[in-house]
Formats: sequence, structure tokens, C-alpha cells
Amino acid sequence: MKLKIALLAGDGIGPEVIDQAVKVSDAIAKKFDHQIEWMPALTGAVAIDAVGEPYPDSTHEVCLASDAVLFGAIGHPRFDNDPSAKVRPEQGLLKMRQKLGLFANVRPTFTFPSLIDKSPLKRERIEGTDLVFLRELTGGIYFGERGRKDDGNTAFDTCTYTRSEIQRLAKKGFELAMTRSKKLCCVDKANVLESSRLWRETVQSMEKDYPEVEVAYEFVDAVAMRLVQWPNSYDVLITENLFGDILTDEASVISGSMGLMPSASVGSKISLFEPIHGSFPQATGKDIANPLATVLSAAMMFEMAFGLHEEGALIRKIVDQSLEEGIVTEDLIEGNDKAYKTSEVGDYLASQIK
Ligand code: IPM
Ligand code: MN
Repeated sequence: MKLKIALLAGDGIGPEVIDQAVKVSDAIAKKFDHQIEWMPALTGAVAIDAVGEPYPDSTHEVCLASDAVLFGAIGHPRFDNDPSAKVRPEQGLLKMRQKLGLFANVRPTFTFPSLIDKSPLKRERIEGTDLVFLRELTGGIYFGERGRKDDGNTAFDTCTYTRSEIQRLAKKGFELAMTRSKKLCCVDKANVLESSRLWRETVQSMEKDYPEVEVAYEFVDAVAMRLVQWPNSYDVLITENLFGDILTDEASVISGSMGLMPSASVGSKISLFEPIHGSFPQATGKDIANPLATVLSAAMMFEMAFGLHEEGALIRKIVDQSLEEGIVTEDLIEGNDKAYKTSEVGDYLASQIK
């Protein structure tokens, strides 16, 4: 099969972890006789430096010409500490999501048996955890009206949702629940927010179309709490953009490191795959970042964008093997055990696939 993949390494550790996903994907392509055409393009702070904007039209063209996008990370500290910056790397990511119509962000949280004791939570609370957030990605407070008033002394951001935006996200949630344990949790703040009441009303009205799915409605603050108490009690969760941003970061570390969880952003023809972690500026260029979240994002890409399930499963198997064998980066190291470099983990994974 011919696979055209736009490669957006981005900022910080993005290029380093993307390199490992490329190695692994190339090894998979060789083994299963696929031809991958990698199509690199600029995004983030590196794109601002090169052409003055974080998601240039030329990059959008590359994405449109691809079958799938593999993305690293975006962000640079020099913008974080400058609230007055006019152009920010993150704007590139938001523009890309919007222009590619990626309205649903699929963010799983699962555990690896060999890492159970690396989790900040106790074993009995996380064993069996296998949940998926569907985070709405192109609406809400991220894209609502915002600004300043009163000579700059008042600021506002607005959270707006339409019924159809909620429906299309919820539909994916119901459909995903049907393929799993048929449990769906709608996360909102309907006791306070009008937009959340529209979420709840909309999801309630869809229940009759999926009679087998058991729907629970929970407030976001309670979910934040229960996620660290009993993460293994959840299955599929749907929520709006900002709640999803926060809860998926919280959930992602349950597995033992922030460097482990992959994600997919879907909506229209072209899907995007990226690690949940960010650009990790402190580690940039040191060859120490954990590449597994990006490698597992490539596995999701093989499965979801190309229907190549055997390929995805093999990547997962090799990743499990690397964890069991202790071929891991320093974030997963105990005591005096040897920490492997980012590139060494990638080399190991690729060699095992061959
Ligand atoms: C994420 C990130 C982004 C977001 C930032 C970089 C704009 O935190 O993908 O979760 O808030 O959506
Ligand atoms: Mn985030």
C-alpha cells in the first residue's frame, strides 16, 4: 500500500520523538511491503522563525495532499513568558485543527502491566484501566469571542457551542461506546454553564438512537476527582474542548509517565496523530525524551487512517516488549538501572520489527 504521510515535527522534543516514529514506521513498511512517502512541513515556533506564521499555507497544502498527518509538538518558552506576543506557536495548532476539520480528539488512557508500579496511583486503583476521552476540538472557549475592555483591565473568553457541534462529537462517542463496553460518560458543568446544559440536553436526546448504551452524566469537577480515585471505572468519556484538555493531561500520567499516551484527531478526510505530551523544552536536543507516545501514535495511524491493524498491533507488541526488557528512557528508570536514549529506544524498536 502507498501511504502519503505529512510529517510535522514542530518544536522542542518534537523532531526527536518524530524521528523514532519514522524509524519504526519505516521498519513496518519494509516488513509489510508498504511504500511510505514522508512529506515534511513546518509548524510551530520553527515556522514562525522561518516564515513568520505557525501554520503557513504551504504546510496546509502538504497536509491536504497527504493521507494522514503525524505531528510532534508545538510551543516554545520564549512565547510562554511573553503574554503580549502577537503570533504564538499554539495558534498554529488551533488553525490546523480548524482548517483540517479535526473536531474530535481521541485520547486513550491505558496501563502497561510492566509499569503498574510506576503510576502515581496505587495498583488496585489503576489495574484494568482502559478508557478513552473524546474531546471536542474545534469549538468552545478555544475558538469563542475573546478580548479586552476597559483600557485593558477586563478580559473575556467565551464558550459557545451549537447543537450540531455537540451532536457530531457525541455521535462518535456513542459509536465508540458500541464497540467497547457500551458505557458512555458525558462530562459537563450543567449545574452552572448554559453551554453544558445544551450538551446534556443534546446527548440525552440521542440516547434513544443507541438503546444499548448506558449513559452517565457527571460534572467535570467530580470526574477530575474520580479519575484519580477509580480510573478503571470509566470507559468512553465525551466532553468539550477545555475540560477535555485538562482531564486528558490528568489521565495521561496514570500510566506511569507523561511520555506514553498517543492520540488521534479526526473529523474529515485527513486525520492527525500526535503524542499527548507537549514540547518539553527542558529536554530539547538532549536525546532523553520518551518516544513511546509518538510511536504509539504511529500505531494508531496505521490502524485508524489506513485500516492496517496487524501493523498497529505489531508496534504495540514491540513497545510492550521494550518496557518489559527495560529498554526505556530516563523517565521510566528505577534506581541505578540504565537509561536509554530516545534514539536508542527507537533503534531497538525498529530492529525488533525487522
Ligand atoms: C493539547 C495542547 C494544546 C491544547 C495547546 C498546545 C494549544 O495542550 O493538544 O492538549 O490546549 O489543545
Ligand atoms: Mn493540552
